[in-house]
Amino acid sequence: MKGLILSGGTGSRLRPITHTGPKQLVPVANKPVIEYAVEDLKEAGITEIGVVLGHKGREEIQEHLGDGSKYGVDITYIIQGNPLGLAHAAGTARDFVGDDDFVMYLGDNILNQGISELVDSFETGDYGAGIALQRVDDPQAFGIADVDVDGNVTQLIEKPDDPPTDLALIGIYVFSPAIFNAIERLEPSWRGEVEITDAIQLLLNEGHNIDSHTVEGWWKDTGKPEDILHANRLVLQDFDASVDGTVEGGAEISGPVELAASATIEDGAVVRGPVSIDAEATIETGTYLGPYTSVGSSCRIAGVHIENTVVVGESEITCDEKIVDSLIGRATTIGGADELLPEGRRLVVGENSDLKF
Ligand code: TTP
Repeated sequence: MKGLILSGGTGSRLRPITHTGPKQLVPVANKPVIEYAVEDLKEAGITEIGVVLGHKGREEIQEHLGDGSKYGVDITYIIQGNPLGLAHAAGTARDFVGDDDFVMYLGDNILNQGISELVDSFETGDYGAGIALQRVDDPQAFGIADVDVDGNVTQLIEKPDDPPTDLALIGIYVFSPAIFNAIERLEPSWRGEVEITDAIQLLLNEGHNIDSHTVEGWWKDTGKPEDILHANRLVLQDFDASVDGTVEGGAEISGPVELAASATIEDGAVVRGPVSIDAEATIETGTYLGPYTSVGSSCRIAGVHIENTVVVGESEITCDEKIVDSLIGRATTIGGADELLPEGRRLVVGENSDLKF
């Protein structure tokens, strides 16, 4: 069994963060999203992993993951180029996959219970594909599967008006190499993409058995800023925190706090977990860091109140303000303008930014 992580795409819903980097490297609890996929594959015993790259962030992803040895896996990079759809992305990996079965994992998805059960279930039968499903409250917004009592898929329907079930396809699949034959014969859908659900439907029509596994733990697609914050909350709510950095006397910390070895919480700062603080970050006097906040490496945070927020890294936040529910990109400066005249907010804001005062 091989693994395939899809890391192309446009990332348009995550602008402006994705103007300067791929969404798969946006950190959730101070770990880039794509690393969760690598770890899940490794945990399921899959160490030969192909990473499909588009145009955006190709070099950054290769530089970050390298040859995979630091994760105990072997990574091969496959260039898709233009994001022509999930099935097109899978199709670019045909030579890499060869005659093996493979797991396809969307590089912006996070699952809390891993993929071993999905893989095990696929391996117990003679299946053309296996799909991971999750019960959702709004099945009209998803690709939905109908399944029989044994979990065999009987029908796939894209965003149905009258959904037969509430079982939505999530971004993890297992395929036999038969999928490549199906992909080759597909035409792009109305939205101009070669759809993976069409490829699976074709396998189903041609008599292949399609397995399904319903994921009970949480699953998150991190496509939008609010999804990053939600994923950050989900990961932080049950993470193993350890304080390895410096907590000065007079600093007040409570709840689970992860503090990297070279990070500091200074005298007079208050940190209420769950909070994650990465390497070389300093949380200075007068700062309050509230629950579900992740502060990236080399940040300086001083005199500000921050809650339910992801600060990506190398940022300096020194304003006397309350910042909540925010995603703050790399190397951002947010300072006070109190003594400057004329009074008012001073902004240097990139395209597609979203600010609320
Ligand atoms: P999506 O989130 O569906 O698409 P996107 O990344 O283009 O984002 P947006 O809709 O905000 O513009 O993609 C899911 C995952 O699959 C993501 O990790 C990117 C990857 N992908 C590819 O590798 N190739 C593709 O052709 C597409 C469409 C997505």
